[in-house]
Parts: sequence; C-alpha cells; structure tokens
Amino acid sequence: MNPFKKFNMWFNLAKKNHTFDHTAFALGTENKGQPHTRMVLLKLILEDGFVFFTNLNSNKGSHFKYNKKLSMCFYWESIHKQIRIVGKGSIVDDKTSDKYFASRPRGSQIGAWASDQSSQIKSFSYLKQREKKFEKMFKGSDVPRPDYWVGIKIQPKEFEFWQQGNFRLHQREVYFLRNKVWQRKMLSP
Ligand SMILES: Cc1cc2nc3c(=O)[nH]c(=O)nc-3n(C[C@H](O)[C@H](O)[C@H](O)COP(=O)(O)O)c2cc1C
Repeated sequence: MNPFKKFNMWFNLAKKNHTFDHTAFALGTENKGQPHTRMVLLKLILEDGFVFFTNLNSNKGSHFKYNKKLSMCFYWESIHKQIRIVGKGSIVDDKTSDKYFASRPRGSQIGAWASDQSSQIKSFSYLKQREKKFEKMFKGSDVPRPDYWVGIKIQPKEFEFWQQGNFRLHQREVYFLRNKVWQRKMLSP
C-alpha cells in the first residue's frame, strides 16, 4: 500500500475517534546537533507532503533555514496508533500561504503580526499593546499575511506506522524510498 494512503486512513480514523485535535503533531528540528520538538497543527495534506504554518523568524524557522531535515510524530491514544515521519521541508508557494492565512479568524491574523514568535518579551502586557497597535493599523481593511508567516511542506522519505498490540507485541511497519519506489519492512517492537 502507498504510505500516503495508509496515512489518510489512520488520520481519518483518528478524526472520528480522537477526543483532542487529531491534527496536532510533534515537529522535530535540529540546531547545531541539538534536537528540538514542539507541537504544531497539520493544516494541509498534499499528494507529496504535509503542511503546517508558522513564523519563519521563530526558533523552529531558524532551525529550518539551517537544516531542512524535519520530523513529525502523531500519537492518537484513542485508536492506539502512532505515525512517525522523517523528510525534507520546503516553503510552500505564496498563494497557498495567502489562502490559508485569509481563512484564519481575524484575531489570529492580528496575532501573527503582534507576536514576534520565539523572541524574548518584557511582559504579556507588551504583547497586548502590540495586538492593539496592529488592530489599529489594519482597522477597516483586510489583514495582509506577514511575509515571514508561511506554510512549510514536509516531503516524507520514511513513514513508520505503529499499532499497539497485546503484551508489548506492537506492530511496526516502515515505508522507505528506494529508487523513488516505496518499500515496506517490519520492525521488532
Ligand atoms: C496543540 C498545539 C498546536 C500548535 N500549533 C502550532 C502551529 O501550527 N504553528 C506554530 O507556529 N505554533 C504552534 N504551536 C506553538 C508551538 O508549539 C511553539 O510553542 C511555537 O511555535 C514556538 O516554537 P519555537 O520557539 O520552537 O519556534 C502549537 C502548540 C500546541 C500546544
């Protein structure tokens, strides 16, 4: 089976069964040999990759500029499944980021301007002041997408599908690319 097909099957199953947001995943980046993870939301599933949106000036954005290799990990407790993906990131085209940005609530759009993501701030009230500043600036008009706010597509080179089994005999199915063809192997849990 094509791993994208399997991903979609599990993702839809999680959507039906999950109590929390099934689109949330742990995103892994690397910076000078130090791995970092944080949660982000999967917003687009394309034929060849998975897209999340973020601020390119954030820590993760800086890591990504320096190392395009990224990892993703979903865990859906309700269906006892985990999916791990490793691959290469690339910035999606402006049209795709514009379209998604335009679909966000106005408050989130203002927030994208107000928050210089990952930078040190004096206080929370400083952030609220910035929010007010941008509300005023964009009053009566659409909020444009800041050019640093983009979608990043992760194009997988490997998937691991993990299904919980009894007595720790879990099933681990790995798909990897060889000569551009998906190959499948099983791993011991
Ligand atoms: C459930 C959840 C979903 C999140 N989704 C996003 C997201 O889609 N994009 C984003 O930039 N940050 C998201 N965040 C915030 C990130 O986890 C993180 O705090 C932020 O992006 C800064 O990370 P960085 O300093 O490593 O760049 C989310 C946090 C949680 C808990």
